[in-house]
Amino acid sequence: MVDLDEFTVTDATLEQMAGTANPRLKQIMDAAVRHMHAFVREVELTPAEWIQGLRFLTAVGQACTPLRQEFILLSDVVGVSAVVNALHDRKAKELGSQSSLLGPFFREGAPELPLGAQIVEQPTVEELVVHGQVTDTHGAPVPGALIQVWQTSERGLYDLQERNGESMDMRGNFRTDATGHYFFRTVRPKGYSIPMDGPVGELVHAQRRHGMRPSHIHMLIGAERHRELVTALYFGDDDYIDSDTVFGVSGSLVVAAKDDPSSPMKGYRAVRYDFRLAKAEPGESGRVGADPTTFMPKAAE
Ligand code: BEZ
Ligand code: FE
Repeated sequence: MVDLDEFTVTDATLEQMAGTANPRLKQIMDAAVRHMHAFVREVELTPAEWIQGLRFLTAVGQACTPLRQEFILLSDVVGVSAVVNALHDRKAKELGSQSSLLGPFFREGAPELPLGAQIVEQPTVEELVVHGQVTDTHGAPVPGALIQVWQTSERGLYDLQERNGESMDMRGNFRTDATGHYFFRTVRPKGYSIPMDGPVGELVHAQRRHGMRPSHIHMLIGAERHRELVTALYFGDDDYIDSDTVFGVSGSLVVAAKDDPSSPMKGYRAVRYDFRLAKAEPGESGRVGADPTTFMPKAAE
């Protein structure tokens, strides 16, 4: 019998886990244990604080529904999702377009629309065109790439919030044409607050943060043999462009709507963005996050 103290218990834990069969699981859990123990020692966590932390995580889990993934939100507000994205971008063999957060409002199965279609059912403000070309990192066009688009309305709400998940709006899927080009119509989405009515919102309030995301359009771009790109375009004149609560903005993703002679649809201001897709490594996944419905156990038939 060994007498364990706050240091030797770390070694004892690592020793018990030493036989983990999967080497990657071993690497991740070893590091998680070392860092968690070091964190507890550094802040000298008290039993009451430990319980409070567990209560918080329990509440985060209980706030999850098929329409809401509070754990993704937690990862986002503490910057972990952004770190995972940055590492993912850095690990690419080739320099493709930059990633951004998938966020909790992505849905599989949005309607596939013809190029040029309006993704907003009833636009009440100026319509904009978003267009550009999808190429590989050498500039060769990528025809047939699937571009999944989703955004908030001009009121700053996703369809999941305005329609309670009963029908889709402000989203659509497009295929690039034979020259890799895409174009669609939308309205400028309004920036919005992340959901603040749950445990993560409480934490953000306690930290005196505003909870806002600047106006943005999400895009998820996939093509065979290329890395899937999860990203978003951010409107540079938004008040919150420099203080996104979830750290999704990067300079290379900032855009503006302009008069644009290169736009394939005349009479609209346009946002132009050309995407570069890097080659995929076999079996590689490019997503940080997922459709929250895929996290929930299916109801018994
Ligand atoms: C979003 O952009 O949809 C989002 C990302 C992180 C947290 C909340 C929302
Ligand atoms: Fe968003």
